[in-house]
Amino acid sequence: MKRVYVGMSADLLHPGHINIIKEAAKLGQVTVGLLTDKAIASYKRLPYLDYNQRKIVVENLGDVYNVIAQETLDYRPNLEALKPDIIVHGDDWRVGVQSKVRAQVIKTMGQWDGKLVEIPYTQGISSTKLNKSFKDQGTTPDRRRNELRRLLAAKDLIRILEVHSGLSGLIAENVSVDVNGKPHSFDGMWSSSLTDSTAKGKPDIEAVDMTSRTSAVDNIFEVTTKPMIFDADTGGKTEHFVFTVRTLERLGVSAVVIEDKIGLKKNSLLGNDVAQTQDSIEGFCNKIRTAKNGLISDDFMIIARCESLILDKGMDDAVERTKAYLEAGADGIMIHSRLADGAEIMEYAKLYKDFNTTCPLVVVPSSFDKIKEEEFRKAGINIVIYANHILRASYPAMQKVAQTILANERGFEAREQCMSIKEILEIIPGTV
Ligand code: SPV
Ligand code: MG
Repeated sequence: MKRVYVGMSADLLHPGHINIIKEAAKLGQVTVGLLTDKAIASYKRLPYLDYNQRKIVVENLGDVYNVIAQETLDYRPNLEALKPDIIVHGDDWRVGVQSKVRAQVIKTMGQWDGKLVEIPYTQGISSTKLNKSFKDQGTTPDRRRNELRRLLAAKDLIRILEVHSGLSGLIAENVSVDVNGKPHSFDGMWSSSLTDSTAKGKPDIEAVDMTSRTSAVDNIFEVTTKPMIFDADTGGKTEHFVFTVRTLERLGVSAVVIEDKIGLKKNSLLGNDVAQTQDSIEGFCNKIRTAKNGLISDDFMIIARCESLILDKGMDDAVERTKAYLEAGADGIMIHSRLADGAEIMEYAKLYKDFNTTCPLVVVPSSFDKIKEEEFRKAGINIVIYANHILRASYPAMQKVAQTILANERGFEAREQCMSIKEILEIIPGTV
Protein backbone atom coordinates (compact mmCIF):
# COMPACT_ATOMS: atom_id res chain seq x y z
CA MET A 1 0.00 0.00 0.00
CA LYS A 2 1.43 3.39 -1.02
CA ARG A 3 1.61 6.14 1.58
CA VAL A 4 -0.12 9.35 0.46
CA TYR A 5 0.26 12.75 2.12
CA VAL A 6 -2.34 15.53 1.93
CA GLY A 7 -1.79 18.90 3.61
CA MET A 8 -4.81 21.02 4.47
CA SER A 9 -6.35 23.52 6.92
CA ALA A 10 -9.81 21.93 6.75
CA ASP A 11 -11.48 24.90 8.39
CA LEU A 12 -15.12 24.87 7.19
CA LEU A 13 -14.77 21.62 5.32
CA HIS A 14 -16.32 21.72 1.85
CA PRO A 15 -16.73 19.35 -1.15
CA GLY A 16 -13.39 20.53 -2.55
CA HIS A 17 -11.62 19.00 0.46
CA ILE A 18 -13.61 15.78 0.19
CA ASN A 19 -12.76 15.51 -3.49
CA ILE A 20 -9.03 15.80 -2.76
CA ILE A 21 -9.19 13.18 0.00
CA LYS A 22 -11.24 10.80 -2.16
CA GLU A 23 -8.78 11.08 -5.03
CA ALA A 24 -5.85 10.61 -2.64
CA ALA A 25 -7.44 7.47 -1.17
CA LYS A 26 -7.55 5.93 -4.66
CA LEU A 27 -3.75 6.09 -4.65
CA GLY A 28 -3.06 4.62 -1.19
CA GLN A 29 -3.26 5.12 2.57
CA VAL A 30 -4.00 8.78 3.34
CA THR A 31 -2.21 10.79 6.02
CA VAL A 32 -3.56 14.30 6.41
CA GLY A 33 -1.02 16.90 7.50
CA LEU A 34 -3.37 19.24 9.30
CA LEU A 35 -2.06 22.78 9.53
CA THR A 36 -1.88 24.01 13.09
CA ASP A 37 -3.55 27.29 14.05
CA LYS A 38 -0.15 28.94 14.09
CA ALA A 39 0.70 27.67 10.63
CA ILE A 40 -2.59 29.04 9.28
CA ALA A 41 -2.20 32.36 11.07
CA SER A 42 1.19 32.74 9.42
CA TYR A 43 -0.52 33.42 6.09
CA LYS A 44 -4.18 34.24 6.82
CA ARG A 45 -6.62 34.88 9.66
CA LEU A 46 -7.05 32.35 12.42
CA PRO A 47 -9.36 29.47 11.51
CA TYR A 48 -12.87 29.40 12.93
CA LEU A 49 -12.29 25.97 14.43
CA ASP A 50 -9.18 25.34 16.50
CA TYR A 51 -6.72 22.56 15.70
CA ASN A 52 -8.28 19.94 17.96
CA GLN A 53 -11.78 20.56 16.64
CA ARG A 54 -10.57 20.33 13.05
CA LYS A 55 -8.60 17.21 13.87
CA ILE A 56 -11.71 15.46 15.20
CA VAL A 57 -13.56 16.29 11.99
CA VAL A 58 -10.79 15.14 9.64
CA GLU A 59 -9.84 11.94 11.43
CA ASN A 60 -13.46 10.85 11.27
CA LEU A 61 -13.56 11.07 7.49
CA GLY A 62 -13.80 7.56 6.02
CA ASP A 63 -10.89 7.86 3.61
CA VAL A 64 -8.42 9.27 6.14
CA TYR A 65 -6.00 6.79 7.74
CA ASN A 66 -4.44 9.23 10.22
CA VAL A 67 -3.94 12.91 10.97
CA ILE A 68 -0.69 14.57 11.97
CA ALA A 69 0.10 18.20 12.70
CA GLN A 70 1.78 20.30 10.03
CA GLU A 71 3.40 23.01 12.12
CA THR A 72 4.43 25.28 9.26
CA LEU A 73 3.15 26.31 5.88
CA ASP A 74 6.33 24.72 4.62
CA TYR A 75 5.65 21.04 3.82
CA ARG A 76 9.29 19.99 3.94
CA PRO A 77 9.68 19.09 7.65
CA ASN A 78 6.74 16.64 7.53
CA LEU A 79 7.67 15.25 4.13
CA GLU A 80 11.24 14.65 5.23
CA ALA A 81 10.03 12.92 8.38
CA LEU A 82 7.45 10.70 6.63
CA LYS A 83 8.96 10.24 3.17
CA PRO A 84 5.58 9.47 1.58
CA ASP A 85 5.33 7.84 -1.86
CA ILE A 86 2.84 10.39 -3.11
CA ILE A 87 1.69 13.89 -2.17
CA VAL A 88 -1.71 15.06 -3.41
CA HIS A 89 -2.65 18.73 -3.77
CA GLY A 90 -5.18 20.87 -5.67
CA ASP A 91 -3.74 22.26 -8.90
CA ASP A 92 -4.55 25.83 -7.83
CA TRP A 93 -1.14 26.15 -6.19
CA ARG A 94 0.59 26.27 -9.58
CA VAL A 95 0.08 30.03 -9.63
CA GLY A 96 0.30 32.73 -6.99
CA VAL A 97 1.98 32.72 -3.63
CA GLN A 98 1.77 28.93 -3.23
CA SER A 99 3.80 28.21 -6.37
CA LYS A 100 6.98 28.61 -4.34
CA VAL A 101 5.81 26.02 -1.81
CA ARG A 102 4.96 23.71 -4.71
CA ALA A 103 8.46 23.99 -6.14
CA GLN A 104 9.95 23.14 -2.73
CA VAL A 105 7.66 20.11 -2.43
CA ILE A 106 8.62 18.74 -5.87
CA LYS A 107 12.30 19.12 -5.05
CA THR A 108 11.95 17.46 -1.64
CA MET A 109 9.85 14.53 -2.93
CA GLY A 110 12.46 13.97 -5.63
CA GLN A 111 14.97 12.98 -2.96
CA TRP A 112 13.25 9.56 -2.53
CA ASP A 113 11.51 9.41 -5.90
CA GLY A 114 8.17 10.48 -4.44
CA LYS A 115 5.46 11.80 -6.75
CA LEU A 116 3.22 14.86 -6.79
CA VAL A 117 -0.35 14.25 -7.99
CA GLU A 118 -2.44 17.36 -8.63
CA ILE A 119 -6.23 17.32 -8.54
CA PRO A 120 -8.20 19.89 -10.55
CA TYR A 121 -9.30 22.65 -8.18
CA THR A 122 -13.02 22.59 -7.38
CA GLN A 123 -14.03 26.01 -8.73
CA GLY A 124 -15.89 28.48 -6.55
CA ILE A 125 -16.45 25.94 -3.83
CA SER A 126 -15.19 27.97 -0.91
CA SER A 127 -16.70 31.31 -1.92
CA THR A 128 -18.70 31.71 1.27
CA LYS A 129 -15.71 31.01 3.41
CA LEU A 130 -13.50 33.33 1.41
CA ASN A 131 -16.12 36.02 1.57
CA LYS A 132 -16.40 35.76 5.31
CA SER A 133 -12.69 35.65 5.93
CA PHE A 134 -12.20 38.50 3.50
CA LYS A 135 -14.55 40.66 5.55
CA ASP A 136 -12.93 39.70 8.84
CA GLN A 137 -9.49 40.60 7.58
CA GLY A 138 -10.49 43.92 6.06
CA THR A 139 -8.99 44.76 2.70
CA THR A 140 -6.31 46.75 0.91
CA PRO A 141 -6.69 49.54 -1.66
CA ASP A 142 -5.49 47.29 -4.48
CA ARG A 143 -7.90 44.47 -3.67
CA ARG A 144 -10.83 46.80 -3.18
CA ARG A 145 -10.18 48.83 -6.32
CA ASN A 146 -10.12 45.75 -8.49
CA GLU A 147 -13.33 44.41 -6.99
CA LEU A 148 -15.71 46.39 -9.20
CA ARG A 149 -14.23 45.07 -12.43
CA ARG A 150 -14.31 41.56 -10.98
CA LEU A 151 -17.96 42.00 -10.06
CA LEU A 152 -18.76 43.33 -13.51
CA ALA A 153 -17.16 40.28 -15.08
CA ALA A 154 -19.06 37.95 -12.78
CA LYS A 155 -22.54 39.46 -12.60
CA ASP A 156 -25.05 40.88 -15.05
CA LEU A 157 -26.34 43.50 -12.66
CA ILE A 158 -24.57 45.16 -9.78
CA ARG A 159 -26.42 46.77 -6.91
CA ILE A 160 -24.86 49.82 -5.26
CA LEU A 161 -25.98 51.71 -2.15
CA GLU A 162 -25.32 55.31 -1.19
CA VAL A 163 -23.13 55.84 1.87
CA HIS A 164 -22.14 59.05 3.62
CA SER A 165 -20.47 57.87 6.86
CA GLY A 166 -18.81 54.89 8.46
CA LEU A 167 -22.14 53.88 9.95
CA SER A 168 -24.00 53.94 6.62
CA GLY A 169 -20.98 52.10 5.19
CA LEU A 170 -21.61 49.32 7.69
CA ILE A 171 -25.18 49.07 6.41
CA ALA A 172 -24.00 48.68 2.81
CA GLU A 173 -21.43 46.18 3.99
CA ASN A 174 -23.59 43.97 6.18
CA VAL A 175 -27.28 44.18 5.34
CA SER A 176 -28.50 41.00 3.69
CA VAL A 177 -32.02 39.86 2.98
CA ASP A 178 -33.21 36.47 1.88
CA VAL A 179 -35.29 36.75 -1.31
CA ASN A 180 -36.76 33.46 -2.52
CA GLY A 181 -34.02 31.53 -0.80
CA LYS A 182 -31.30 33.72 -2.30
CA PRO A 183 -29.33 36.13 -0.14
CA HIS A 184 -29.54 39.68 -1.47
CA SER A 185 -26.93 42.20 -0.45
CA PHE A 186 -25.28 45.28 -1.90
CA ASP A 187 -22.25 44.77 -4.12
CA GLY A 188 -20.73 48.14 -3.41
CA MET A 189 -21.10 51.73 -2.29
CA TRP A 190 -21.79 55.11 -3.88
CA SER A 191 -20.23 58.21 -2.45
CA SER A 192 -22.94 60.67 -3.47
CA SER A 193 -22.17 64.37 -3.80
CA LEU A 194 -25.78 65.05 -2.81
CA THR A 195 -25.75 63.07 0.43
CA ASP A 196 -22.17 63.80 1.40
CA SER A 197 -22.97 67.51 1.07
CA THR A 198 -26.34 67.18 2.78
CA ALA A 199 -24.84 65.23 5.68
CA LYS A 200 -22.55 68.23 6.18
CA GLY A 201 -25.45 70.68 5.93
CA LYS A 202 -24.17 72.02 2.62
CA PRO A 203 -25.83 72.36 -0.81
CA ASP A 204 -24.97 69.94 -3.63
CA ILE A 205 -22.99 72.53 -5.63
CA GLU A 206 -19.42 71.26 -5.29
CA ALA A 207 -19.08 73.39 -2.14
CA VAL A 208 -17.66 70.45 -0.18
CA ASP A 209 -14.06 70.32 -1.33
CA MET A 210 -12.25 67.18 -2.47
CA THR A 211 -10.14 66.96 0.68
CA SER A 212 -13.31 66.67 2.72
CA ARG A 213 -14.95 64.31 0.23
CA THR A 214 -11.98 61.96 0.16
CA SER A 215 -11.60 62.10 3.93
CA ALA A 216 -15.21 60.87 4.15
CA VAL A 217 -14.26 58.01 1.83
CA ASP A 218 -11.32 57.16 4.04
CA ASN A 219 -13.61 56.95 7.09
CA ILE A 220 -15.94 54.62 5.22
CA PHE A 221 -13.06 52.48 3.98
CA GLU A 222 -11.79 51.98 7.51
CA VAL A 223 -14.84 49.90 8.36
CA THR A 224 -15.82 48.27 5.06
CA THR A 225 -14.41 46.02 2.35
CA LYS A 226 -16.81 46.54 -0.55
CA PRO A 227 -15.90 48.55 -3.66
CA MET A 228 -16.90 52.19 -4.11
CA ILE A 229 -18.03 54.34 -7.01
CA PHE A 230 -17.31 58.02 -6.34
CA ASP A 231 -19.47 60.87 -7.57
CA ALA A 232 -17.03 63.64 -8.50
CA ASP A 233 -19.69 66.01 -9.87
CA THR A 234 -18.20 67.82 -12.91
CA GLY A 235 -14.70 66.80 -11.92
CA GLY A 236 -13.88 70.51 -11.77
CA LYS A 237 -11.11 71.84 -13.98
CA THR A 238 -9.45 69.17 -16.10
CA GLU A 239 -6.07 70.06 -14.60
CA HIS A 240 -7.51 69.53 -11.10
CA PHE A 241 -9.45 66.40 -11.96
CA VAL A 242 -6.22 64.56 -12.73
CA PHE A 243 -5.23 64.96 -9.08
CA THR A 244 -8.66 63.91 -7.83
CA VAL A 245 -8.44 60.73 -9.86
CA ARG A 246 -4.97 59.96 -8.51
CA THR A 247 -6.17 60.43 -4.93
CA LEU A 248 -9.21 58.21 -5.46
CA GLU A 249 -7.14 55.57 -7.18
CA ARG A 250 -4.63 55.55 -4.33
CA LEU A 251 -7.40 55.22 -1.73
CA GLY A 252 -8.79 52.13 -3.45
CA VAL A 253 -11.92 53.66 -4.99
CA SER A 254 -12.93 51.57 -8.03
CA ALA A 255 -14.56 54.14 -10.26
CA VAL A 256 -15.23 57.84 -10.53
CA VAL A 257 -18.27 59.34 -12.24
CA ILE A 258 -18.06 62.80 -13.79
CA GLU A 259 -21.00 64.58 -15.33
CA ASP A 260 -20.78 66.60 -18.53
CA LYS A 261 -21.65 69.95 -16.98
CA ILE A 262 -19.57 73.08 -16.42
CA GLY A 263 -19.79 76.14 -14.21
CA LEU A 264 -21.77 76.11 -10.99
CA LYS A 265 -23.16 72.59 -10.87
CA LYS A 266 -26.63 72.05 -9.44
CA ASN A 267 -28.22 68.73 -8.59
CA SER A 268 -29.50 66.94 -11.69
CA LEU A 269 -32.91 66.24 -10.24
CA LEU A 270 -33.61 70.00 -10.40
CA GLY A 271 -33.35 69.71 -14.20
CA ASN A 272 -33.94 72.95 -16.06
CA ASP A 273 -35.63 74.61 -13.06
CA VAL A 274 -32.17 76.00 -12.38
CA ALA A 275 -29.47 77.23 -14.76
CA GLN A 276 -27.18 74.34 -15.68
CA THR A 277 -24.69 74.33 -18.54
CA GLN A 278 -23.56 71.25 -20.39
CA ASP A 279 -19.92 71.02 -21.42
CA SER A 280 -19.02 70.86 -25.11
CA ILE A 281 -18.38 67.36 -26.41
CA GLU A 282 -14.74 68.27 -27.10
CA GLY A 283 -14.26 69.79 -23.66
CA PHE A 284 -15.66 66.79 -21.83
CA CYS A 285 -13.81 64.28 -24.03
CA ASN A 286 -10.61 66.12 -23.27
CA LYS A 287 -11.31 65.78 -19.55
CA ILE A 288 -11.89 62.03 -19.92
CA ARG A 289 -8.79 61.55 -22.06
CA THR A 290 -6.53 63.56 -19.77
CA ALA A 291 -7.71 61.71 -16.67
CA LYS A 292 -7.31 58.33 -18.35
CA ASN A 293 -3.75 59.20 -19.30
CA GLY A 294 -2.97 60.01 -15.68
CA LEU A 295 -4.09 56.64 -14.31
CA ILE A 296 -1.61 54.29 -12.70
CA SER A 297 -3.64 51.09 -12.42
CA ASP A 298 -5.60 49.23 -15.09
CA ASP A 299 -8.54 48.58 -12.84
CA PHE A 300 -9.64 52.13 -11.97
CA MET A 301 -12.63 53.22 -14.07
CA ILE A 302 -13.68 56.62 -15.34
CA ILE A 303 -17.40 56.68 -15.96
CA ALA A 304 -18.85 59.47 -18.07
CA ARG A 305 -22.25 60.74 -17.02
CA CYS A 306 -24.43 62.13 -19.76
CA GLU A 307 -26.86 64.85 -18.69
CA SER A 308 -28.60 65.35 -22.05
CA LEU A 309 -31.89 63.86 -20.86
CA ILE A 310 -31.77 65.81 -17.59
CA LEU A 311 -31.31 69.03 -19.56
CA ASP A 312 -33.97 68.18 -22.18
CA LYS A 313 -31.41 68.04 -25.00
CA GLY A 314 -33.00 64.94 -26.47
CA MET A 315 -32.07 61.35 -27.19
CA ASP A 316 -30.00 62.11 -30.30
CA ASP A 317 -27.76 64.40 -28.29
CA ALA A 318 -27.40 61.73 -25.60
CA VAL A 319 -26.42 59.14 -28.21
CA GLU A 320 -23.97 61.45 -29.98
CA ARG A 321 -22.31 62.33 -26.71
CA THR A 322 -22.18 58.71 -25.54
CA LYS A 323 -20.38 57.71 -28.71
CA ALA A 324 -17.84 60.47 -28.27
CA TYR A 325 -17.27 59.74 -24.58
CA LEU A 326 -16.66 56.05 -25.27
CA GLU A 327 -14.27 56.93 -28.07
CA ALA A 328 -12.43 59.28 -25.69
CA GLY A 329 -11.80 56.27 -23.43
CA ALA A 330 -14.62 56.34 -20.87
CA ASP A 331 -14.79 52.98 -19.06
CA GLY A 332 -18.55 53.21 -18.60
CA ILE A 333 -21.55 55.47 -19.13
CA MET A 334 -24.03 56.77 -16.60
CA ILE A 335 -27.28 57.96 -18.13
CA HIS A 336 -29.50 60.03 -15.91
CA SER A 337 -33.16 61.01 -16.03
CA ARG A 338 -35.53 62.80 -13.70
CA LEU A 339 -38.73 61.45 -15.25
CA ALA A 340 -40.71 59.03 -13.13
CA ASP A 341 -41.72 56.42 -15.71
CA GLY A 342 -38.17 55.47 -16.74
CA ALA A 343 -39.24 55.25 -20.40
CA GLU A 344 -36.40 57.42 -21.69
CA ILE A 345 -33.88 55.39 -19.71
CA MET A 346 -35.19 52.17 -21.24
CA GLU A 347 -35.17 53.73 -24.72
CA TYR A 348 -31.59 54.85 -24.20
CA ALA A 349 -30.58 51.39 -22.92
CA LYS A 350 -31.91 49.88 -26.15
CA LEU A 351 -29.82 52.28 -28.22
CA TYR A 352 -26.79 51.62 -26.02
CA LYS A 353 -26.92 47.95 -26.97
CA ASP A 354 -26.21 48.96 -30.57
CA PHE A 355 -22.86 50.42 -29.51
CA ASN A 356 -21.73 46.83 -28.93
CA THR A 357 -19.51 47.99 -26.15
CA THR A 358 -18.44 46.05 -23.09
CA CYS A 359 -18.36 49.28 -21.09
CA PRO A 360 -21.00 49.08 -18.37
CA LEU A 361 -24.15 51.19 -18.39
CA VAL A 362 -25.08 52.78 -15.07
CA VAL A 363 -28.43 54.15 -13.90
CA VAL A 364 -29.58 56.03 -10.81
CA PRO A 365 -33.26 55.27 -10.33
CA SER A 366 -34.16 57.99 -7.82
CA SER A 367 -37.11 59.27 -9.86
CA PHE A 368 -37.93 56.10 -11.80
CA ASP A 369 -37.94 53.96 -8.68
CA LYS A 370 -40.81 51.69 -9.71
CA ILE A 371 -38.63 49.80 -12.17
CA LYS A 372 -37.39 46.52 -10.76
CA GLU A 373 -33.79 45.35 -10.99
CA GLU A 374 -34.77 42.46 -13.27
CA GLU A 375 -36.13 44.94 -15.85
CA PHE A 376 -32.89 46.89 -15.73
CA ARG A 377 -30.95 43.66 -16.17
CA LYS A 378 -33.00 42.65 -19.18
CA ALA A 379 -32.45 46.11 -20.67
CA GLY A 380 -28.70 45.50 -20.53
CA ILE A 381 -28.07 47.89 -17.66
CA ASN A 382 -25.08 46.76 -15.58
CA ILE A 383 -25.06 48.94 -12.48
CA VAL A 384 -27.98 50.27 -10.44
CA ILE A 385 -27.19 52.93 -7.86
CA TYR A 386 -29.60 53.64 -5.01
CA ALA A 387 -28.10 57.08 -4.68
CA ASN A 388 -29.62 58.79 -1.66
CA HIS A 389 -32.02 56.53 0.22
CA ILE A 390 -30.00 56.00 3.37
CA LEU A 391 -29.63 59.70 4.07
CA ARG A 392 -33.23 60.40 3.11
CA ALA A 393 -34.32 57.75 5.59
CA SER A 394 -32.18 59.04 8.43
CA TYR A 395 -33.23 62.70 8.46
CA PRO A 396 -36.96 62.18 9.14
CA ALA A 397 -36.12 59.55 11.78
CA MET A 398 -33.75 61.92 13.59
CA GLN A 399 -36.17 64.83 13.29
CA LYS A 400 -39.03 62.80 14.74
CA VAL A 401 -36.98 61.81 17.79
CA ALA A 402 -35.93 65.44 18.36
CA GLN A 403 -39.57 66.53 18.20
CA THR A 404 -40.64 63.75 20.56
CA ILE A 405 -38.04 64.79 23.16
CA LEU A 406 -39.13 68.44 22.94
CA ALA A 407 -42.81 67.61 23.17
CA ASN A 408 -42.38 65.41 26.25
CA GLU A 409 -39.55 67.26 27.96
CA ARG A 410 -37.75 63.91 28.39
CA GLY A 411 -36.32 61.05 26.36
CA PHE A 412 -38.54 58.23 27.55
CA GLU A 413 -41.18 58.59 24.80
CA ALA A 414 -38.47 58.59 22.16
CA ARG A 415 -37.18 55.24 23.37
CA GLU A 416 -39.28 53.17 21.00
CA GLN A 417 -38.09 55.24 18.03
CA CYS A 418 -34.49 54.45 18.89
CA MET A 419 -32.31 51.38 18.92
CA SER A 420 -31.33 50.34 22.43
CA ILE A 421 -28.04 51.39 24.00
CA LYS A 422 -27.12 47.70 24.05
CA GLU A 423 -27.74 47.43 20.31
CA ILE A 424 -25.71 50.49 19.47
CA LEU A 425 -22.82 49.16 21.53
CA GLU A 426 -22.99 45.83 19.78
CA ILE A 427 -23.34 47.13 16.24
CA ILE A 428 -19.77 48.39 16.02
CA PRO A 429 -17.12 45.69 16.06
CA GLY A 430 -14.62 46.20 18.82
CA THR A 431 -16.89 48.13 21.20
CA VAL A 432 -17.45 45.23 23.58
C1 SPV B 1 -25.76 62.17 -6.31
O1 SPV B 1 -26.16 61.20 -5.64
O2 SPV B 1 -25.15 63.10 -5.81
C2 SPV B 1 -26.00 62.21 -7.75
C3 SPV B 1 -27.18 61.56 -8.28
O3 SPV B 1 -25.26 62.83 -8.43
S1 SPV B 1 -28.41 62.76 -8.38
O4 SPV B 1 -28.59 63.32 -7.06
O5 SPV B 1 -29.61 62.11 -8.85
O6 SPV B 1 -27.97 63.77 -9.33
MG1 MG C 1 -24.02 64.15 -7.38
